Amino acid sequence: MTEKEILELLSQVRHPARGDSSVVELGMVNKVEINGDGVTVTLGFPKRRDPLAEYLIGATRAALIRGGVKDPKVETVVLEDAAPKKKGLEFDTECLRNVRHIIGVASGKGGVGKSTVAVNLACALARLGHKVGLADADVYGPSVPLMTGTEGAQPLAEEIDGRELIIPLEKYGVKWMSIGYFAERGQALIWRGPMASNALKQMILQVKWGELDFLLVDMPPGTGDIHISLLQEIPMEGALLVTTPQEVALADVEKGASMFRNKSINRPIFGLVENMAWFTPAEHPDEKYYIFGRDGGARMAEDLGIELLGRIPLVQGIRESGDAGEPAALGTRPDAQAFLDLAGKLAAKLG
Ligand SMILES: Nc1ncnc2c1ncn2[C@@H]1O[C@H](COP(=O)(O)OP(=O)(O)OP(=O)(O)O)[C@@H](O)[C@H]1O
Ligand SMILES: [Mg+2]
Repeated sequence: MTEKEILELLSQVRHPARGDSSVVELGMVNKVEINGDGVTVTLGFPKRRDPLAEYLIGATRAALIRGGVKDPKVETVVLEDAAPKKKGLEFDTECLRNVRHIIGVASGKGGVGKSTVAVNLACALARLGHKVGLADADVYGPSVPLMTGTEGAQPLAEEIDGRELIIPLEKYGVKWMSIGYFAERGQALIWRGPMASNALKQMILQVKWGELDFLLVDMPPGTGDIHISLLQEIPMEGALLVTTPQEVALADVEKGASMFRNKSINRPIFGLVENMAWFTPAEHPDEKYYIFGRDGGARMAEDLGIELLGRIPLVQGIRESGDAGEPAALGTRPDAQAFLDLAGKLAAKLG
């Protein structure tokens, strides 16, 4: 491949906070090195803290891979310094200074309804009068934009005290942030481990959260490296674990619990949320069918020494409202009440 071809690929990489101009137009492509089959692109950032740096690194890599480059390397320099420093992107927890409680919403297993619980809990806490934010930490499968009807929104960046911060979106009285706002629809970003955790940290540590009572972090499924790295660098106070009531889910919840209780992490688990605790058909709102077993959540909570903080029914409306971007917790149905009860208990527990 020639440098010209590479630059053509890079002209597809747009900076969402700079009028959607490409990194080529913005003069950010500092260097293109072609070495046989290998391609290394160096992106130059005018500032140490471009809040979208990690996103742009991922998007550049993705554009090169789509263009047929195998395993391209993307490096960065900060141009502000007289002698450009490599990898000068730093994080600190300054933007979380006025956030009272930072709570991870996690589970050992995927698909149990973490994002559904996190989004609805955020709306329910806001309905109770709290100041709430939610960071979608699932860089591989962000679901907050869809679940809140904010797909396609483009958050702006703002320079505050010499550093650039991303302004979260506000809807339903909650501040939302997700890497989904920076990825084109349906276009998966291709992350390598450390990049994914950096992108993730930017979505939490370079956001103008302002004053919040609660910041919920919707964690990606599993208990891998990305989780450990997140827990080490984000001052999370503790966690909520989400599970379904089946016996087989116990092992996964245990894994989730031991991640937080692990010696090097050691954060409290504020509660277990039993999702899909029973099924209620829309046409018979008073009936409860315990299709995944009865009281599974209560047993797990007892086994693990965690308080059962909430029980959320399986109802078609929760899925439908999630898909429609209007969280069920905003409504008046009994399932909204389940989220409000959970929110009330959590707020009471944390004082
Ligand atoms: N209580 C519920 N009633 C009905 N549908 C639900 C309920 N909880 C979750 N769902 C649906 O189940 C699907 C998975 O939920 P969700 O995306 O919240 O899970 P998750 O644990 O965040 O998944 P992932 O591990 O992929 O992040 C979604 O389609 C959601 O609408
Ligand atoms: Mg999820």
